[in-house]
Amino acid sequence: MPGTSTKDQNPQIETLRVDLGTRGYDILIGSDLIERCGSLCWPVLPGKTVVVVSDDNVAPLYLDRVVASLEGQDLDVKTVILQAGEGTKSFANFQKLCETILAMGIERKTTLIALGGGVIGDITGYAAASLLRGIPFIQIPTTLLAQVDSSVGGKTGINTAHGKNLVGAFYQPLLVLADTEVLNTLEPRQLLAGYAEVVKYGLIDDFAFFQWLESNGKALINGDDAARRYAVHTSCAAKAKIVAEDEKETGRRALLNLGHTFGHALEAETGYGDKLFHGEAVAIGMVMAYRLSARLGLCTGQDEERLIRHMAEVGLRTDLKGLGAEDWTAEALAAHMSKDKKVTDGKIIFVLAKGIGEAFLSSVDDRDALFSVLDSFLSGSK
Ligand code: GLY
Repeated sequence: MPGTSTKDQNPQIETLRVDLGTRGYDILIGSDLIERCGSLCWPVLPGKTVVVVSDDNVAPLYLDRVVASLEGQDLDVKTVILQAGEGTKSFANFQKLCETILAMGIERKTTLIALGGGVIGDITGYAAASLLRGIPFIQIPTTLLAQVDSSVGGKTGINTAHGKNLVGAFYQPLLVLADTEVLNTLEPRQLLAGYAEVVKYGLIDDFAFFQWLESNGKALINGDDAARRYAVHTSCAAKAKIVAEDEKETGRRALLNLGHTFGHALEAETGYGDKLFHGEAVAIGMVMAYRLSARLGLCTGQDEERLIRHMAEVGLRTDLKGLGAEDWTAEALAAHMSKDKKVTDGKIIFVLAKGIGEAFLSSVDDRDALFSVLDSFLSGSK
């Protein structure tokens, strides 16, 4: 069964299966997984050599523990530390990473381990997909966003001058270890940005989860580990189910892009940097998707209000204030959107909604409605 959950013999670990036949794998969720990563990875490793790829934010916190735990299983462990930040997902850095790993003298059974957030997971996964035409890799996501979204499902890749993630591969990991304890060291703004992707699962098709988040979201943000584990588990279960049904995004998987078409346009305008994190762009993008849905008569404005209320309660931004949007135009935003991967036969495929928990895919012929939504955000009106 896709996304089925079993309690591991260790009660602190829950296991979800991404059911993709021979490419299927487990997502382990719990605390203390970093300390035990050696014994948790060991059963799936095809060889004795691993290369841990991390970044200069995460490595000082966790790399020593990961290496010690892996060496505790008599593994030969090598490490690569990249610069933290979206800029690392470039062609130049991808080439450097591949050359560095090749210089280590790897073979087909060498396993890459991505220890970090979405950037490290994406570039390491793509290196794994490419080196020697494919070597195994494991994801140890250290941000909420990576735990609930990017580490699961096998989307790997890098950015290009034409947009984000436009070069990459679907390439599934052997295992995902989501250690919720590492979220304690996450910068609050990063945690909140990841929370937007958690809310997304409620909006797509799980109204009850959205209600749960309305009651428990603040506790989750403030450090409640039980709430974090429940949210990570629910999000990963939802994602595992969708990925098992539509691995290569020929249909239903595109629902996971709720808020992303708008969000990527905002990231393009802000330069893919610290001004607006990916999750923050998705948060605003989800509000835009609900406003567009309301303009098209698909849902009520109250759904948008409810979404804004919840995101504001936890501290997520829902508008463009302070981003320099005075200098942007609706045309420029629409142009970014039309370069998105979600364009089919020249039409942008939007994730729209009939309500909270009722998302669906559709193109939008009503250009006036789209532009009125973009203009309303640019002018800060409704
Ligand atoms: N982040 C969306 C997906 O994995 O399909």
